[in-house]
Amino acid sequence: MFSDRYSFAQRDGGDLIPDGATCVVFNATDSSDLSGLSGDITVVQGFAPFVDQLSAAGVRVTQQAQGHAQGPFDVGIVLLPKSKKQARDLIYQATQVVPEGTVFVDGQKTDGIDSILKDLKKHVDLSAPVSKAHGKLAWFSTPAQVSDYADTGMLLPQGFATSAGVFSADGIDPASQLLAEMLPPLRGVVADLGAGWGYLTHALCNSPAITQVFAVEADFASQQLIAKNVPDDRVVSVWADATGWRSPKPVDVVVMNPPFHIAGRADPAVGQAFIRNAAANLSPQGQLFMVANRHLPYESVLEASFQSVQELTGTPQFKVYHAARPKRTKR
Ligand SMILES: C[S@@+](CC[C@H](N)C(=O)[O-])C[C@H]1O[C@@H](n2cnc3c(N)ncnc32)[C@H](O)[C@@H]1O
Repeated sequence: MFSDRYSFAQRDGGDLIPDGATCVVFNATDSSDLSGLSGDITVVQGFAPFVDQLSAAGVRVTQQAQGHAQGPFDVGIVLLPKSKKQARDLIYQATQVVPEGTVFVDGQKTDGIDSILKDLKKHVDLSAPVSKAHGKLAWFSTPAQVSDYADTGMLLPQGFATSAGVFSADGIDPASQLLAEMLPPLRGVVADLGAGWGYLTHALCNSPAITQVFAVEADFASQQLIAKNVPDDRVVSVWADATGWRSPKPVDVVVMNPPFHIAGRADPAVGQAFIRNAAANLSPQGQLFMVANRHLPYESVLEASFQSVQELTGTPQFKVYHAARPKRTKR
């Protein structure tokens, strides 16, 4: 991780970050990502569970580096996300908020650090990379010209706006599309847990009997797109961890295509936590409609959380569930 490579680089090259420097770190997920750093640190992080984790550890966190009260900064550190487009955009953002200083770029080989550094070398005067712990760290001075790295967003053929790094940025997710096609006419108050940029919320808004949709999404960039993609007064878009979110009143229906990755690592426990929290948010007669990849182990949690569980006709790749009457309605 970054701290291993940074302390290794320091041993060779002395203090790379001057005492008292203001530092902005893009994409740190918990305080261990910051070990070895001292001074005034601001983290840019948009994923609500990581924001909660960092804030609980006393770290200053923002979703927007540009215009932040602590900026402009002396040093920027970009910890690579999985998406290459997003990684480049973060490097661009770092050059904007570190106008005269140093930008470090760090990542694991599995996150594509080699190709990022290879391309970056064509744009800036990049240090020799420090290779350690299955990753690389390199740095450059600003001002630097990387404006072609800026993400300007995408418009899908159906008219939906997306941006680098959000789920299904390049097109509608086939599992979500299947779920949308299979939904019966719904009514009342609905929650879309893990709403992404709003595809399922948009589909729900085609039902006139739906009075309100809570679109709950943990990723800030995705959540910001919902208002643009679903400009409907019935939509309440919420930036929150859907595994702990509580609706103001029990809802009639939950729809979801739950995530099974956290920061690129497969973790079916997150989908299971979505199911439990869907049950906790539903009224006694409430219903859940859910789609998932066929291999994911959700059946026992569904059975434990609902009085009735039915698998609808899915596809070889995806299964669709209708569950009703939550067993745990205590709020
Ligand atoms: C499989 S995608 C579905 C997105 C969207 N419903 C769609 O159909 O295109 C799952 C979504 O859950 C979000 N997510 C992941 N963990 C979350 C959490 N703990 N709370 C809320 N949303 C989360 C992801 O950012 C992603 O947008």
